[in-house]
Amino acid sequence: MNTQVLPVSEESIKLAATLITQGEIVAFPTETVYGLGADALNPIAVEKIFIAKNRPADNPLIVHISDLSQLSLITSGIPAHASTLIKTFWPGPISLVLPKHPNLPQITTAGHNTVVVRFPAHPVAQALIQAANTPIAAPSANTSGRVSPTKAQHVLDDLNGKIPLILDDGHIEYGLESTVVDCTSNIPTVLRPGSITLEMLKEIIPQTYDAKETDSTRSPGMKYRHYAPEAPIMLFVGEPVITSKAIQDYLMDIETNTVSIIWHTGDFDVQPKNFKLPTRAREAAPLLFETLRKADAPSVARIIVQGYSTNDVGAAIMNRLQKAAHEIIKV
Ligand code: TXA
Ligand code: MG
Repeated sequence: MNTQVLPVSEESIKLAATLITQGEIVAFPTETVYGLGADALNPIAVEKIFIAKNRPADNPLIVHISDLSQLSLITSGIPAHASTLIKTFWPGPISLVLPKHPNLPQITTAGHNTVVVRFPAHPVAQALIQAANTPIAAPSANTSGRVSPTKAQHVLDDLNGKIPLILDDGHIEYGLESTVVDCTSNIPTVLRPGSITLEMLKEIIPQTYDAKETDSTRSPGMKYRHYAPEAPIMLFVGEPVITSKAIQDYLMDIETNTVSIIWHTGDFDVQPKNFKLPTRAREAAPLLFETLRKADAPSVARIIVQGYSTNDVGAAIMNRLQKAAHEIIKV
């Protein structure tokens, strides 16, 4: 299959919507990462997502809407906490676990009786869903287990020849996948941290808590290794001045031209393959996935990453890095 990459325009969105209604799959921009979309109500179309991504069949998809009226097609009832979060944060980078409508195909939710729903703020995502006139199931548009795409080129790198169309809208605003919050129990639970942080959620619903990484039963995707480049990642965790010193010490003992370093504090400019990120987590987040892809050059045997503190969006960054890491060094 030939994969077309088209800049966003009225015509290209129309073409993408036509493909979706015909049961095809299309990559499109959202404010978090690029998604790979199919008509959520068409099981044959949804199956194509699993095949193109090589996604395990037991990992359910997020269903995207562009209008609250579409909730009645895919959910059966909105819990009170969910209504509060919807009023506060939608449209935006947050997805809610809700009770599933019986008509939503089993394959979309991987057999679960819940469905994760998101109302993206990105105008192209909204226009596509509106034009297709159906909720769109869309995981991140990368090969399963690899780094999520923040540019059309990243989608092409992973899925060239496997999908008919990529809508190219340049770099993505947030660059980390949406926060996932389970609203099906009495206390809202963060299953995946994101740009809408636990602190922000607690301001609205103080009882909200963070499911620990180990609680893999709540979010099926958590048990898989994720966000991983080819080269193994060595993640240094601790206070920035201390991790910076620890990385410097580590470099003294190894062949430094075979490693990439992703860092934010210290002085690694002498290192041939060094990728400096902003010190502030919120500014670093949009660049993280692209930097992981760049650092993963063929000659690189190891990627050394300086961790962030887990305040604010740092929690989401560290969640992704910990899942990607082969080795975590706490200093
Ligand atoms: O920002 C995003 O959320 C992007 C864009 C495209 O919207 N999408 C995305 O989808 O990141 P994906 O498939 O890469 O991640 C969805 C996560 C997975 O960890 C999955 O296991 C979890 O949501 N999930 C999906 N359905 C679930 C359910 N019914 N219960 C619990 N977790 C669920
Ligand atoms: Mg993903």
